[in-house]
Amino acid sequence: MASLLKFSTPRGLKVSRAEGQYVWDSSGRRYIDFHTGHGAAFLGHRNRYVVARLRSQLEYVTCLPPFFDSEILEEALKSLGRILPSHLGHVFFMNSGSEAVELALKLARKRSRRKVYAAFTGAFHGRTMAALSVTHNPKYRQGYDPFPSNTIFLPFNNVEALRTLDERVAAVIVEPVQGEGGIHIASREFLRAVEERCREVGAYFIVDEVQTGFGRTGLVWSHLEYGVRPDILVAGKSIGGGFPVSFVAVSDDVASKVEEGEHGSTHGGNPLALAAVVGGVEALERERVPEAAGRMGGLLASRLKEVAAEAEDVVREVRSKGLMAGVELKSRAAPLVSSLQERCVLALRAGLIVLRFLPPYLITERDVEEAVTVLREALAKFRPGVG
Ligand SMILES: Cc1ncc(COP(=O)(O)O)c(C=O)c1O
Repeated sequence: MASLLKFSTPRGLKVSRAEGQYVWDSSGRRYIDFHTGHGAAFLGHRNRYVVARLRSQLEYVTCLPPFFDSEILEEALKSLGRILPSHLGHVFFMNSGSEAVELALKLARKRSRRKVYAAFTGAFHGRTMAALSVTHNPKYRQGYDPFPSNTIFLPFNNVEALRTLDERVAAVIVEPVQGEGGIHIASREFLRAVEERCREVGAYFIVDEVQTGFGRTGLVWSHLEYGVRPDILVAGKSIGGGFPVSFVAVSDDVASKVEEGEHGSTHGGNPLALAAVVGGVEALERERVPEAAGRMGGLLASRLKEVAAEAEDVVREVRSKGLMAGVELKSRAAPLVSSLQERCVLALRAGLIVLRFLPPYLITERDVEEAVTVLREALAKFRPGVG
């Protein structure tokens, strides 16, 4: 038997089944899933629309590059046409968030003929070399210098600092809510100022919605709330209901400069991935996913804030947007993630000290109450001098 490289500490849980907002271990214990595979199963495990589309696609064609026409490609493009901002009508499919970020950066660099990117403190855009070059965490970057391009990191949510951007910058990439960086929400003023500064210096404005997109924050795309117009939008994670697929969506201007042979991917736009996107969009529309995320996100946030207020000695702050919630602790979050798991609630970290909750849209009030009770118990054990 081969062994898996240990890039992450194993969770010590053997999952044998997953459905909706739950997973079951090999002994039949049920867990509420606030991890959802780093947010990818936001539509719930085995979402029925996604499973139906995948099943049906398996009967027809499962390997076909998107430069061949197919019914599923037409359907996927139609589906995205209904949910994308009207000025971002051109897409290219990739397999992971990092790859889509990579493509966004490539598009901006070649078109601008500039070699410098700008990103923000706390940013996470992926682990491939260019995506990593705009990811801030020194732990992830260490040992990989020099990157193919230089990145200027500016303080997140600091409008003043944007003045330092100049005509050397090919693109500015930003998350409306930093996920991995600790659930930090961009202010309206900041995101608008980023767009404005991009226009002033002629840099491409890339919005990375790999984690925030597809309804999680209460709107189909989180940036819509800010009234900004990205040149390039990056999406991944939830869009295929847990099936690996991502895409970039670009403006007419970016699309008009695309050159033959400039980019490609063997599996990007695979028919199964496209079927997953079609099922994902069906679920999003029919189940009114963004509305549900907004509603349940409000409940989750208020319950987390109550628990935080009772545990002021261990909790610093609760931050959330829709169903993206973070509880910032005064110490490391990893032990709390384990102790929740022992009590059948799966969560994850965001950075070192933030406990992150990324539940699926179909989480119920009962699930939230159960999770909050478990969190309260686990936090009680964390009190100095107890447990
Ligand atoms: C905002 C953002 N961008 C990019 C990525 C990278 O996506 P992937 O892990 O699918 O490569 C992630 C993953 O967490 C992310 O949160």
